Amino acid sequence: MTEQPMVIAIDGPAGSGKSTVAKAVAIRLGLDYLDTGAMYRSVAFAALRGGVDPEDAEVVGNLARNMELDVDASGKITVDGVDATIEIRGPEVTRAVSIVAANPDVRTEMRARQRQWVAKRGGGVMEGRDIGTVVFPDARLKVYLDASPEVRAARRSKEVSDLSYETVATDLARRDALDQNRTHDPLRTAEDAVVIDTSDLSVDQIVDAIMESLS
Ligand code: DC
Repeated sequence: MTEQPMVIAIDGPAGSGKSTVAKAVAIRLGLDYLDTGAMYRSVAFAALRGGVDPEDAEVVGNLARNMELDVDASGKITVDGVDATIEIRGPEVTRAVSIVAANPDVRTEMRARQRQWVAKRGGGVMEGRDIGTVVFPDARLKVYLDASPEVRAARRSKEVSDLSYETVATDLARRDALDQNRTHDPLRTAEDAVVIDTSDLSVDQIVDAIMESLS
């Protein structure tokens, strides 16, 4: 009998605390960490860099299948040999990424790459929107992190100091709607997920709650 990979799925909307928590859980468990949002951002980056309209589903789908994408353990993102670590977090990519992430061909390709990533390592902590619902429905543990829209917008605006709170909050609401209402693999809570509202919790409290759910 082959051993099941040890996958911890951490899903939730932007600003729910996924990245910080997923990294901390990975360290506690001695597992590798994968930010799957960075993969969708990398496809958007490749489209913008190549002068491709992010809405052109066929061309973007081909681009996703053919691109070289490397996410290393330190979080460095390389797209077709170019370091995209900083730029994938910028406003242009952030604006374009929801359209790219709604593209079914892109999702099929990213899902395959995410499964390969796990197969290579025998497991990992993966953060995203559809990890527990679609990519790894048999994950060892599924966590859904959430927080109030105000708290999530406040967290995001701390990260991007050049944008006002209002701008960040409006953009977050727009992305929430696109992620939740898209046809393919929308953001939703897996039935068997542990749901944690992180609005009033510290990172340590959240990580402790996740570790308890594992035991
Ligand atoms: O978590 P983030 O903001 O970096 O995610 C970027 C975009 O990618 C966002 O629109 C949601 C989408 N995404 C997705 O559709 N599926 C995932 N597994 C991860 C992210």
